[in-house]
Amino acid sequence: MKMKLPPISSKIPVMLHGADYNPEQWLKYPEVLREDIRMMKLAKCNVMSVGIFSWVSLEPEEGVFTFDWLDSVLDTFAENGIYAFLATPSGARPAWMSEKYPEVLRVERNRVRNLHGVRHNHCYTSPVYRQKTALLNGKLAERYAKHPAVIGWHISNEYGGECHCDLCQANFREWLKVKYDNSLDELNHAWWTTFWSHTYTSWDQVESPAPHGETQVHGLNLDWRRFVSESTIDFCQHEIDSVRDYNPELPVTTNMHNIDGVDYRKLAKILDVVSWDAYPAWGYTEDNDDARLAAWTAMHHDMFRTFKHKPFLLMESTPSLTNWQSVSKLKRPGMHKLSSLQAVAHGSDSVQYFQWRKSRGSSEKFHGAVIDHSGHAETRVFRDVAEVGRTLAELQDVAGTTTPVQTAIIYDWDNRWAIKDAQGIRNSGLKYEETVLQHYQALWELGIPVDIIGSEEDLSAYKLVIAPMLYLISEANGKRIEKYVEQGGTFLGTYWSGVVGETDLCHLGGFPGPLRRTLGIWAEETEGLHSRDLNGLVMNSGNALSLEGDYDAHEIAELIHLEGAEALGTYRTDFYAGQPALTMNRLGEGRAYHLATRVKDAGFYVELYAAIAKKAGINRTLDTELPAGVTAQFRTDGESDYVFVQNFSGIEQSVVLDGRVYTELESGEPVPAVLTLPVHGLAILKRVH
Ligand code: GLA
Ligand code: ZN
Repeated sequence: MKMKLPPISSKIPVMLHGADYNPEQWLKYPEVLREDIRMMKLAKCNVMSVGIFSWVSLEPEEGVFTFDWLDSVLDTFAENGIYAFLATPSGARPAWMSEKYPEVLRVERNRVRNLHGVRHNHCYTSPVYRQKTALLNGKLAERYAKHPAVIGWHISNEYGGECHCDLCQANFREWLKVKYDNSLDELNHAWWTTFWSHTYTSWDQVESPAPHGETQVHGLNLDWRRFVSESTIDFCQHEIDSVRDYNPELPVTTNMHNIDGVDYRKLAKILDVVSWDAYPAWGYTEDNDDARLAAWTAMHHDMFRTFKHKPFLLMESTPSLTNWQSVSKLKRPGMHKLSSLQAVAHGSDSVQYFQWRKSRGSSEKFHGAVIDHSGHAETRVFRDVAEVGRTLAELQDVAGTTTPVQTAIIYDWDNRWAIKDAQGIRNSGLKYEETVLQHYQALWELGIPVDIIGSEEDLSAYKLVIAPMLYLISEANGKRIEKYVEQGGTFLGTYWSGVVGETDLCHLGGFPGPLRRTLGIWAEETEGLHSRDLNGLVMNSGNALSLEGDYDAHEIAELIHLEGAEALGTYRTDFYAGQPALTMNRLGEGRAYHLATRVKDAGFYVELYAAIAKKAGINRTLDTELPAGVTAQFRTDGESDYVFVQNFSGIEQSVVLDGRVYTELESGEPVPAVLTLPVHGLAILKRVH
């Protein structure tokens, strides 16, 4: 049965293609603005994000509003079949505001208030900032919420950062009072403050972390991060409330990018559409490993798709280079299309850029753009962009389609914050994100679609749930995983899991705490290894996964006891040689695997997940062997599947297809049994679902 999700805007139910557009920088150059429209059409761009940092052009003096330029831009768009995400301009503010109301200026961790400058540096608590934002947003909404060119709200820009002003401190205390039932005693216990005599005897003594003050109370650090995240989300809600009523149909999004600061999974809940800004540095990561970078990027696309289990927007990407990496290298031929369509493969219904036209001055004048300072379309970058425009126009049927997913990885903000703050077991590099990627990349190499979920989410839809280094887990979430396995699910946990609970207090009674029964093991000791230390995982003969071999292991090793689980593999060396290093526990109808050490060899993870996926009955996108660095991802409307085969390996590759009938989507030509992909090559194939 054909099943598609409704388009992001019914005004334009197709794949979106466009960029951040700043016509306010060019008002003195009318010929440039005319050229922009002509070239947008030439590049098959159908949507622009406007107004993102335009506050001073919209309110040059307090209470004086100038909308004429924006009227003209939006009207011109409407006449030319171009649509707009209209931004609220709160990402940067005019100097008059900082001058008149210094409280809007952010106070840093060191308790020093910023001077006016740059962007993203206001206080989200400040009543003046909130009031000024709501006022201008309301005026914009009143004027444009029903404008024919406008298809959605782009609320602010890349929210992030934190403020330590007195207003924020007071709010933090109120937030804590609610959380801890007005009981300081409860807070003191939750944060274990008797340690070093840190016990609070009055709420006024509680302060946000500071480099010259408190840094060592993990529970405080974690709660502060949660508070900052919630305040940011609350500010976003405030902005949404200020525009919503003028046209409740208009979808809202905010572009995400600062993964560290805001719990985006929670932010996504108040949005209609998720959007994010992706800037992978192709061809110049330290290890020069584009396949790994592609997997990293894919994992984030998957995460943003999973937030709402529906298509997201690639709100920003660079059409060529960026200006903020140590070296600004150009995208190699083919890479622009490959990386743009990678986002679509993983669920984006758009390819959008920062920026349409390079600014003439200031800090981003050398950041890549569709139009360079040369001002014309006869450039390699423009041709690459236009090619993506043509491809997206062929992909209309793909907009609104989804990917059925049977495998999930738990990657969650609380855990990430807590695990990175803890001292020990390997301060020289715990590598949490890298570990999640190590597991993800194996699935990516196998072409197994993955959802990236939080530990609170419903697991029942998945056949396999993987939780790399789930250091922080509450009793309740541990129980849910246990139940999931009992009812037939497959779970894989690793070393350094089930260590602390919700407020960062260690679980008592043996690690992995609430996962102990599920995994059927007790982790008595965990050690960090020096970079020069090497151990190994030796597979036991005849193990339940039929894996063979002896793989190098390093960095972290956990000494575990079997409590119902069986050993599939053991340590190679050291005083714990022969002790279990990979185990499987049968619990109820399901199975739970535990990996006690960090295996070094990427090939191990591919073999491990190939074996587990087979046992768990998980489908791969293509039922065939994929060369390393090549992946396949698909979207479906229930009748047709759209398969994106992507070559990030850096060399030409051949893929033997799996015997099903494929046509090449853009040309409509049949596809031979062996598909050849050039360097940075991509094939978009169609098959019957
Ligand atoms: C971010 C911002 C943009 C721009 C780009 C440059 O993503 O949202 O305004 O500064 O970075 O890469
Ligand atoms: Zn503040």
